[in-house]
Amino acid sequence: MEKAVCFGLQWGDEGKGKVTTYLSKDFDYVIRYSGGSNAGHTVEYEDFKVVHHLIPSFNVFSECKGYIANNVVLDLEVIVNEIEALKALGFDVSKRLKISSHSNVVLPVHKMLDEKLEITRGSKAIGTTKRGIGPAYADKVHRINLRVKDLQNKESALEKMEYISHIYESLYGIKWNECSRIFEFYEKIKDFVVSPLEIKPVLEKSSLLFEGTQGVLLDVDMGTYPYVTGTNCSVTGIEVGIGYPITLQRRIGVFKAYVTRVGEGPLPTELFGEEGENLRQAGKEYGATTGRPRRCGWLDLPLLRYAIEITGCNEMIMTKADVLAGMKSVKVCTKYVDTVTGEIVDMPVDVSELERYKPLYEEFTGWKDLENENFMKFKEFVEKQTGVKITHISTGAKIDQIIKI
Ligand code: IMP
Ligand code: MG
Repeated sequence: MEKAVCFGLQWGDEGKGKVTTYLSKDFDYVIRYSGGSNAGHTVEYEDFKVVHHLIPSFNVFSECKGYIANNVVLDLEVIVNEIEALKALGFDVSKRLKISSHSNVVLPVHKMLDEKLEITRGSKAIGTTKRGIGPAYADKVHRINLRVKDLQNKESALEKMEYISHIYESLYGIKWNECSRIFEFYEKIKDFVVSPLEIKPVLEKSSLLFEGTQGVLLDVDMGTYPYVTGTNCSVTGIEVGIGYPITLQRRIGVFKAYVTRVGEGPLPTELFGEEGENLRQAGKEYGATTGRPRRCGWLDLPLLRYAIEITGCNEMIMTKADVLAGMKSVKVCTKYVDTVTGEIVDMPVDVSELERYKPLYEEFTGWKDLENENFMKFKEFVEKQTGVKITHISTGAKIDQIIKI
């Protein structure tokens, strides 16, 4: 049974939601293995649009099911709202959603601390989504957090929340004592909860598509630290996320024909002023979770090579090349100058030191549409420069707007 991952090769928002939904028809399960409601996976069906924050991006018209694994931090209100929004559209996911009992709960205090930390960081703020992601993971490591399974016993769950509330008040001066809504939300998802071991045999005999969140460059260990998310959103997070080893046949990396980033941190090929604004407008580059304008820039091959190197990516899907159609010329960063050593390099050795690199560009003649030979040259150039084949090209926002090559 095929096991595959569909993940972002840049800073998130590569179009994984759309691509995962498109691919999901050939899989039994789509699995979220990390992150939380910071993710915003936009999926456009023919007549309606859905933004998935927590529910795996399976095609609602298919038989595919979803599993939310251990290492996802779960905001119960967000998931309940998502379930209800799908129900209002006529899709009842209750028979096809499973949630690990070991997943951690995002509590109101996590969001309060996320906000407070950002303010306290001042000019060093990360630009988080303020969804409480970092604090929820931190509390998991502090071994004080509430897991979904704890909610099965109301009395002990209340005791745990009181304990967390006490810690937050004494450490951070954050007050919280309104727990009742959590039980209300839990009631609505409790039938989907399974233990990791209970679902293991089911997953073993099923075809699985792991759905990455964010992108490799936001991975807490291998990304542009400290401007990263709180967990291993790269493919290495899969085994940690489900709790046991798994062998993947396909590692499908999704990348945009240019780059975007939302939040702070280095972006070597960033475009400013009118150029940046034009690309933002053309690509409708505004955060799906926060609505913030995304920073935009040219495609960065040194970073793409890095992302491929650390993930073992063996096929790629290119998105949003249609957004660049009509431009007179398109630039691509092919190499970096290391300003410390003076050397010209193909790939940064450490992306947490991106400031030391200066991009070098090649310019391509633009394309009118994706059938144009100039676009084919661009595509082949990217394949040659990275050594990985592009298997699909997304041609628009809707799920079926994709060409298999
Ligand atoms: P956090 O994950 O909310 O802690 O935010 C940390 C960094 O990751 C910030 O720069 C966010 O903008 C970014 N980030 C988190 N989730 C996403 C996502 O799904 N897409 C793009 N950027 C994200
Ligand atoms: Mg997104």
